[in-house]
Amino acid sequence: MTAGNRHKFAIERMTESDLTEIVELERACGLSSRGIEAYAGIMKLPHYVLLVARRLDLPDQASIGIAGFFSAVVVLDELHIDNVAVNSEFRRRGAASALLHQGMLAGCLLGAEKSFLEVRESNLAAIGLYLKHGFSQAGLRKDYYSHPTENAIIMTADSSLSLFND
Ligand SMILES: CC(C)(COP(=O)(O)OP(=O)(O)OC[C@H]1O[C@@H](n2cnc3c(N)ncnc32)[C@H](O)[C@@H]1OP(=O)(O)O)[C@@H](O)C(=O)NCCC(=O)NCCS
Repeated sequence: MTAGNRHKFAIERMTESDLTEIVELERACGLSSRGIEAYAGIMKLPHYVLLVARRLDLPDQASIGIAGFFSAVVVLDELHIDNVAVNSEFRRRGAASALLHQGMLAGCLLGAEKSFLEVRESNLAAIGLYLKHGFSQAGLRKDYYSHPTENAIIMTADSSLSLFND
């Protein structure tokens, strides 16, 4: 999938060769990480949705690497989104939107009717992203995060929204 004219990203399945960059991007964003070995293991399981956004607008894609990634798992009829992140050089160009859209669509095809995630209360960029994609607040987990300690907002959306929005 290509994410429209403004954005030159291809959303593809994550491969083992992406993992070093993904773990580095998680570290740079201060996000928790599964680690390379765990990613390599779950990559083979059909109920995990692991996607990357690759840039298409430069000649040698192989040397560019990934702009961002999306990680989620389908549990019964729910898609649990663990992580979405975009390299700071490529932000505000629709990469996360394309990842989220495609990830929710994949979840929907795997039987997920609802999508869930947790986000730091202070993470206005991510909250803005999720609100734009039809998520709303479903609850609050007090002091859920550490380093620094912070509340988590629980957000949810109908996965089927991905069928109608791009
Ligand atoms: C949150 C994040 C993934 C957004 O990625 P992105 O590719 O820049 O997002 P998009 O370009 O698709 O933006 C979609 C919408 O999200 C909202 N948004 C994105 N960045 C924002 C910001 N800095 N401030 C406010 N709203 C923002 C806007 O509504 C935006 O739409 P617009 O550009 O038309 O205004 C990115 O900032 C990031 O990687 N942050 C660090 C990792 C992280 O916190 N991940 C979330 C963990 S829960």
